[in-house]
Amino acid sequence: MPLVNTKIMLEKALKSKYAVPAFNINNMETLKAVVKASEELKRDTIISASEGALEYAGADMLYSMVKCLADKSKINFALHLDHGKSFEVCKKAIDAGFTSVMFDGSSLPYDENVKETKKVVKYAHSKGVTVEAELGKILGVEDMVSSETEHFTDPLEALDFVTKTGVDSLAISIGTAHGINKGTKKPEIRFDIIDNVHKAIPSIPLVAHGSSSVPAELVKIINSNGGDIKKSQGIPEETISKMAKSAICKINIDTDLRLAFTAGVRTTLSSKPDVFDPRKYLGQGMTEITAQAKHIFNLVK
Ligand code: G3H
Ligand code: 13P
Ligand code: ZN
Repeated sequence: MPLVNTKIMLEKALKSKYAVPAFNINNMETLKAVVKASEELKRDTIISASEGALEYAGADMLYSMVKCLADKSKINFALHLDHGKSFEVCKKAIDAGFTSVMFDGSSLPYDENVKETKKVVKYAHSKGVTVEAELGKILGVEDMVSSETEHFTDPLEALDFVTKTGVDSLAISIGTAHGINKGTKKPEIRFDIIDNVHKAIPSIPLVAHGSSSVPAELVKIINSNGGDIKKSQGIPEETISKMAKSAICKINIDTDLRLAFTAGVRTTLSSKPDVFDPRKYLGQGMTEITAQAKHIFNLVK
């Protein structure tokens, strides 16, 4: 199937109360492993690439790989720019063939966020590309995405923002956080904020970033095979399933796939010290990613 934008898949998710996972990829291995999970479970999937992914692999390369697999598949795939921080990077992704972009103006003053998001929406919609924006601040630190202070999304501001910008979906701050450590205690997700934002903008699918569960068993496998991950804390699995049943329609997952890949690679390298063929250890990493992605699909259905 040709790549699609996220409009129909997220509208369906909103109506039927489930969520579409958006899996971050940076390379062929993660992409192929995720696509295998999507096909085995026959589930619509959003393939996300961050600005860091664009720098690492190149927008054209990522587009070509995703298109190649999507064309041969019966599943709907969207290729989405994750956390685009400028109009220019959103345009670059759209011009390369991405079918969806996130403009992340959450670090800008409100009026600037509105102005820049509007500019991205105008260009994206003229090309049939859907746009996600962010309102409020989501905690956590990744390579190119970081926020040290949390600021929950305000429902009335969300209504004003969506009306002024015409965005297709909205990432909201509800207590999730990016990365491997989402706080010292179990994260408390503000379902009251999800409900109030949904009441204010009922037709707009909401997005949860920072939704990895950070499985303790994967951290344990990594650490018992030479790794040294000290602090880790994810979103409890039952909370992820509860978010998927709410107005949250897109659940962003990156960290869990990184952990699965690393667990597979480390296990192979330490249990088979004679192996030096990258296909062997990367292959085991891919097997672990497929298993983790399938697990996530089952949590959010
Ligand atoms: O939300 C951020 C994603 O996990 C991307 O992280 O900037 O390290 O590629 P990255
Ligand atoms: P995690 O770090 O929880 O996987 O979140 C990823 C994300 O939000 C990508 O946009
Ligand atoms: Zn994110």
